[in-house]
Parts: sequence; C-alpha cells; structure tokens
Amino acid sequence: MEKTFLMVKPDGVQRNLIGEIVSRFEKKGYQLVGAKLMQIPTELAEQHYGEHKERPFFGELVEFITSGPVFAMVWEGENVISTARLMMGATNPKESAPGTIRGDFAVTVGKNIIHGSDSPESAEREIGLFFKQEELVAYAKDA
Ligand code: CMP
Repeated sequence: MEKTFLMVKPDGVQRNLIGEIVSRFEKKGYQLVGAKLMQIPTELAEQHYGEHKERPFFGELVEFITSGPVFAMVWEGENVISTARLMMGATNPKESAPGTIRGDFAVTVGKNIIHGSDSPESAEREIGLFFKQEELVAYAKDA
C-alpha cells in the first residue's frame, strides 16, 4: 500500500491546526502509520529541502521550517501521495481552491501550513529522513 510523508509546518502547529488536518485525512479514509511532534534541526531541514538549494528563498525556507515545532506524519492508503496533494491544494495559497487545506487556512506561499511529498520517490526519501522503520505501525487488515 502506498505511503506518503506529510508535515504540519510551524505555522499550522502554532495555529492549533494539527487536529483539523489529521481529521481531514482520517475522514477521507487514510491511516496514520507514523507521527511525531518535533523541532527540525537545521541539517535535516537542508536535506529535506535539498532540491530547492539554488532557489532564492532557500534560506528563508530553512529558517521558517526550523522556527518552531512541526508535526511530521506518515499516511498510508490507495493513491495517498497524489490525493493528499489534492487535499492540500496548490503550493501558493493564492491559487489553492476553497475546501483544500491551503485554500481554507493559508494566505502566503512561505507559510502554507502543510508539506506533502510530490512523488513516490520523494515520499520514500522523506519518510526515510524523518522516520526509522520501527517507528511505523501496521494496522490490522479488518480493523
Ligand atoms: P513545500 O511543499 O513545503 O515545498 C517547498 C516550499 O517552498 C513550498 O512548500 C513553499 O512553502 C516554499 N516556497 C515556494 N515558493 C516560495 C517563495 N517564492 N518564497 C518562499 N517560500 C516559497
């Protein structure tokens, strides 16, 4: 079954949106198989956002993601990688539709509440950066 990495960013945690966000994915029918509230060390932030290293906003990005606690999660389910991205809405909240997480709760591209893996390759990489295999659980099939 497909897994993805989702993370409530410091702005979402600060605004008490963890429960709202977890609830949306639970109600959709996905299963939370790993979670931790953590402060990201700078080195991990730089690794996580490595593909944006050359972007002018890289420093800002790392500074923001390490500015306060985040809620890192692994979710499992059918097509969860692409469907979670749809549920999150466009990266830039100016373009994210109402009804999506960013459409409902975010205003600026820097503080856009949630991160989600954009492909199977990044899901695998990001889950590996944030979680050890033994930190992930498996649900009973008929639970
Ligand atoms: P995320 O999905 O976490 O992945 C990369 C992040 O870069 C993205 O969400 C945005 O929050 C951030 N980002 C993209 N464009 C800009 C920008 N122009 N200025 C600041 N942050 C940006």
